[in-house]
Formats: sequence, C-alpha cells, structure tokens
Amino acid sequence: MDNLNTIAHARELDRLDSLARFRKQFLIDDPSLIYLDGNSLGRLPQKTGEHMELVIREQWGKNLIRSWNEHWYDQSARMGKKIAQLIGADPDEVIVSDSTSVNLYKLAYGALKLMEDRTEIISDDMNFPSDLYIMQGLIKQLGGKHKLNLLKSPDGISLDMSQLTRMVKQSTALITLSHVAYKSSFLYDMERVTELAHQHDALVLWDLSHSAGAVPVSLNRAGADLAVGCTYKYLNGGPGSPAFLFVKRELQERLENPIQGWFGERNPFEFNLNYRESEGIRKFLSGTPPVISLSGLDPALDIVLEAGMESIRQKSVAQSEYLLSLVRQNLTDLGIQLGSPELSERRGSHLSLKHDEAYRICKALTDPGVGDGVVIPDFREPNNIRLGISPLYTTYEDIYRAILQMKEIILEKLYENYPNTRDQVT
Ligand SMILES: Cc1ncc(COP(=O)(O)O)c(C=O)c1O
Repeated sequence: MDNLNTIAHARELDRLDSLARFRKQFLIDDPSLIYLDGNSLGRLPQKTGEHMELVIREQWGKNLIRSWNEHWYDQSARMGKKIAQLIGADPDEVIVSDSTSVNLYKLAYGALKLMEDRTEIISDDMNFPSDLYIMQGLIKQLGGKHKLNLLKSPDGISLDMSQLTRMVKQSTALITLSHVAYKSSFLYDMERVTELAHQHDALVLWDLSHSAGAVPVSLNRAGADLAVGCTYKYLNGGPGSPAFLFVKRELQERLENPIQGWFGERNPFEFNLNYRESEGIRKFLSGTPPVISLSGLDPALDIVLEAGMESIRQKSVAQSEYLLSLVRQNLTDLGIQLGSPELSERRGSHLSLKHDEAYRICKALTDPGVGDGVVIPDFREPNNIRLGISPLYTTYEDIYRAILQMKEIILEKLYENYPNTRDQVT
C-alpha cells in the first residue's frame, strides 16, 4: 500500500470498505462537512424523516387516538426487542422509554431495595457525572445509609481491574459503571466485572450509552444483571430519543420500580385505583412514552441491525487504528497526547486527543473559514478533543482530512484567533 499519509491511501481504504454503502442511508447535506462528534448525536438516517412524517401526518394527524391501539401502545417493547439483538439480550428483557438518567434511577433503586442489608455502591471517577448524581440523590432518598465509593483512575484514561477487585466486599450492593467511558473511551471487560460482583453476591448495572451500536455487547453471555443506555449516539435515534433499560429475566419479578405509573400497570385502561404491576419488563415503564421521538428510532435501528455489530466493530477498530497512526505521524510532535487506551481491545469507538489548547482547536476545526471545510469533533473538559468513529457513515477520507486540518491549526497557531470562553454545549 502507499504511504499512509496520503489522501489516495484514505480513498483506497474507503473503496475497500464493505460497510461503505451504509453512508448513503444517512442525510449528508454538506459532503465537505466532516462529522466526528464523539458521539453525542448520531446523524439523521434518510428514512427517519419519511417515517416521522408518516407518524405525524398519518398516525397522529389523520388517525388520531386510534393510533394508540394500531401503532403506539407496544412501541416501547417493539423497540426494546430490536435493541435486545444489539446488546445480547432476550427480546423480553429490554424496553425503551424515559431518559438514561431516569432509567438508571429506576434500576439502581430496585437493586438497592433488593440488597437491603448492604450499604455500598461502587462506581468510578471516569463515569458520566449524571450517573453519579443519580446515585448521590438515591443515597439521600434512601435515608443516607449507603456510601458511594469511587474507583480512581490512575491516569484519567484507564481503570484497574485489580483495584476494583480489592474494593468489592460483603457490604457491596451494587457496582454501576459505564461500559465505555465517555471521555477516554476505556472499555471494561463486562464478563470479568460481572463475575467479580457475583462472587460477592452483588449486582452490576451497566451504562451502555457509548457501547450500544458501537461495540458488540453480550449481556446474557456475561451474565449481566441490569443495564441502561441512550439511543441518540451510535443508534442514531435523534436528539432526546428515549433510552432503553435491560433487566435480566430472573430479576424482573424481584426488582421494584420506584416510579410506578400507569404504563407499568397490568391493565392501565381498567383505571384500577390500586397499582398492580405488569408482568415482565413492562413493569419498568412509568408514564406515556415520548411516542414521536420513539418512532424515529425504528428506521434507525434497522440500519444498525442490517450492518451487524461484528462488522461495525471491525470497521471501528480499523478506523481507530488508522486515526491513531495518522496522529502519531502528524500530531504527537505538536503537543497532542493520546487520552484513550493504546489497545483497541480496551477502547470503544471514540478517541480522545489531549492538548493544552484543546478547546480553541475545536473552535478552529468547526470554523468554515479554516482549511477545506468544517470538522466537527466535541470537546470534553479540561483538554480533550473527542473524535467519534461511527462506522456506518465515517469515511477514511474524513479521518485523514480532519487530522491534517488539525495539524495546520496547531502548526500555524490558528486557534489563537478564538476566545477560550466555553459554549453552553461543548
Ligand atoms: C454515558 C452516559 N450516561 C448517561 C448520560 C445521560 O443520558 P440522558 O441525558 O439520556 O439521561 C449520557 C449523556 O450523554 C452519557 O453519555
């Protein structure tokens, strides 16, 4: 092959890419825009627009209330069945509604109630803050008898399994972790963590927000207990699309839902005055699901299912390695350091690059007046440029051009033209 550091090489890799045809299934409004957001919001699938038009005009506009029986009532469970195939769960173990934070709250509450005689929750200091806020709130609501202990990362990039092993004890009720860390992309070994928890009769609750649609997940093979995850990142469900939750079958009856609303009731339309929980996964619903955004998920999931998680992972690893080799050749002498694990087995589908001027470099990348076009990464405090690889639409050429643009911005100090004041959403 030619020298890695040429656009011809990048184009050749795109030509050989067996998933390249999936890019056409997404709206690419501006072909010169390089979208490497990592990954807070996936692109819009072409079919989503048409499908939502149908949902809004036909199902809501014309069919009105009748659509509840014909299309909407079972939608949370139908989307759950599709997601189950992507995360190695059974169809009746996953349901979609509410946000990731709310789902995490419900399942963590259920776990702590079930383990009433235990007082410790374990998480880590690289977890998504909302997950830690939920635990802090729960501790208050449950009377303050629990303690949240955080496994500390030695370098802000990875977490040490042997340190985690030393932390788990008889008082541990719950271990709650992000399978892929939102900043560094560190990927936990789900089987090992689950086995460790079970040796101590503790439960594990996984946050799969950066895993679902990005890395293959086998919840049942790992013996996992509980999981949640969002659908707007690698599943491309759109901004604010609802989250999923997974409860393994054996736990469904024993776990209590703290928000027992009518959608979790056995028969909401009997309007019984006393709550009788549904059988199975449905009992973890609470109120009316967000029907419109839930329906946007339907065509989006079909694309991921068609491509298959193994192929997606293969391309994600190949593109991450390609990105890393370009970083080593072009950026390491310019003050860029890797903020993600070196080994692809320990990474999800994004990479963080650290630089003292990370924020202003991101600003320059997104400026249409710089280089050949806009590059969209995202910035994570204090100094991370997060680059997401979404194999269904990311091209090798995108990666090549983005790295070269970053090189020019750093070399020419173009970032000095931007203020360091943070936007509300970074
Ligand atoms: C890992 C992780 N967990 C939880 C959340 C919060 O999700 P939600 O806003 O759906 O509650 C996010 C949001 O980006 C996330 O990345």
